[in-house]
Amino acid sequence: MSITFKNVKYIITSNIFLMFIYLIFFHKFHNNVCTTFSDYYTNRDQNNNCYYNPDSKLNVTEIIKRWQYSVEEYHLTTTDGYILTVFRIPFGKNLGVGATRKPVLLQHGMFANSAGFINRGNKSLAFILADAGFDVWLGNFRGTLYSKRHKEFSPTERKFWDFDTRELALYDTPAIVDFIFNKTEQQLLYIGHSFGSAAAAMYGTIFPNSAKQKLKIIIAFAPSIHGNQSNIVLNFFLLFWRYTKSLLYMLTNGELYLKGHPNSSIREILCTGYPFQMYLCQFLEMSVNGFSYSHSDPKTLPITIVQNVDLSSHRTLDHIIQCLEKRNWDYYDYGAESNQLIYRTPYPPYYNLTLLRVPMLLVRAKNDLLITKKEIEDIRKALSKESNLYDIFTIDSESFNHDDFIVARDVVPLLYEPIVNFIKKI
Ligand SMILES: *[C@@H]1O[C@H](CO)[C@@H](O)[C@H](O)[C@H]1NC(C)=O
Ligand SMILES: *[C@@H]1O[C@H](CO)[C@@H](O)[C@H](O)[C@H]1NC(C)=O
Ligand SMILES: *[C@@H]1O[C@H](CO)[C@@H](O)[C@H](O)[C@H]1NC(C)=O
Ligand SMILES: *[C@@H]1O[C@H](CO)[C@@H](O)[C@H](O)[C@H]1NC(C)=O
Ligand SMILES: *[C@@H]1O[C@H](CO)[C@@H](O)[C@H](O)[C@H]1NC(C)=O
Ligand SMILES: *[C@@H]1O[C@H](CO)[C@@H](O)[C@H](O)[C@H]1NC(C)=O
Repeated sequence: MSITFKNVKYIITSNIFLMFIYLIFFHKFHNNVCTTFSDYYTNRDQNNNCYYNPDSKLNVTEIIKRWQYSVEEYHLTTTDGYILTVFRIPFGKNLGVGATRKPVLLQHGMFANSAGFINRGNKSLAFILADAGFDVWLGNFRGTLYSKRHKEFSPTERKFWDFDTRELALYDTPAIVDFIFNKTEQQLLYIGHSFGSAAAAMYGTIFPNSAKQKLKIIIAFAPSIHGNQSNIVLNFFLLFWRYTKSLLYMLTNGELYLKGHPNSSIREILCTGYPFQMYLCQFLEMSVNGFSYSHSDPKTLPITIVQNVDLSSHRTLDHIIQCLEKRNWDYYDYGAESNQLIYRTPYPPYYNLTLLRVPMLLVRAKNDLLITKKEIEDIRKALSKESNLYDIFTIDSESFNHDDFIVARDVVPLLYEPIVNFIKKI
């Protein structure tokens, strides 16, 4: 057999392919993180810039303990029977028991859980707030890793996943807020990322008086408050969803893992290991969240990629997509007949932001493709005078995206320090 150019090309490409397969699946180093991305391509077990970070396999309680903070764990039952876990870091490292501390509730976004607030060592928002003298609480919405329980239904049953964003605002948020308010006898400072802040706003329009009484402020990091937006990839996804949603519902039983399960070994194998894998796995998300690798943190990316993913329900995504399609912020549309039964009107009601009476600080990132300047302006315009006290805080970076609020290498000086200084004064 003569060696032709075609053969050589074939041999080279197939070998590169095999090398990748070998690297990804078989060559395992013990050290899972390095201080720079180029260190990842060396022999990590011999390189002093690389080390093992055990946080990647630990749960929230274990990580908080490992960083030498006290942790308390509570299980609350919502009025519709879901059992939610709430974590508390009652005080910081050098601050003992005693003094009254203002409670801060951190609430994660969609397809995530509270791990995102504690899994970046001393760059974690929860630890920074605890050390700044706050009493830190971490909520977990129904369906996520720490809140996957119900009094009657098991997560394998379709009934368990029979909820959308409204239930998170109608049942989960009041259950968590009431519990903390009761326990601390103080108004809460609420900080939410993405849907975490939307949930607070929705709760505040459903229960305006209760929210006003219990929340001192809602700090909204890139609030996904309404669907009045034109992200190209999302609009493409919308088409895809229209044709596949029934099939997906049948296959998943209503349980939805868009980005995979938390702590999944498939995600770990495919998306961590080498930086090119980490970049590839973020690519699709960035088309929605904003492109930029410039804030990627080599020391924590392998951990956040595996931990900052979680489940939600099929109907939750369906509701978000309905909002995008109708470019509004209505309740879930079941169709005229069912709407009449559930809401007593043929059209689903609308979350009227004007009713919100809690002061809100809107936080915007310039490179966020999901929640853009226009969306934030629309929200601000809709707020009542009482709520629109603090205007918009824009993060001072051109490349900061939707995810960077919890994963950016430089998130502490860009966002957390200004926020901590701000809330110390209110
Ligand atoms: C975390 O892991 C520890 C040890 O495996 C376990 O005892 C604890 O219940 C877990 N906590 C949560 C909230 O999952
Ligand atoms: C993640 O999975 C590993 C096993 O692969 C297990 O030991 C660990 O407890 C899990 N962590 C969490 C937070 O569930
Ligand atoms: C975190 O700790 C490292 C090493 O101990 C230190 O260099 C860094 O400045 C700390 N970062 C923050 C935000 O405190
Ligand atoms: C709040 O506390 C009161 C009395 O201390 C109790 O009756 C009530 O059930 C509590 N509510 C919640 C949501 O924990
Ligand atoms: C929203 O609430 C305000 C204040 O109650 C009211 O004036 C306005 O008509 C409501 N908007 C809609 C669309 O229902
Ligand atoms: C939605 O965006 C359009 C412009 O694109 C604007 O005219 C309209 O007022 C917005 N709607 C809401 C509810 O903010």
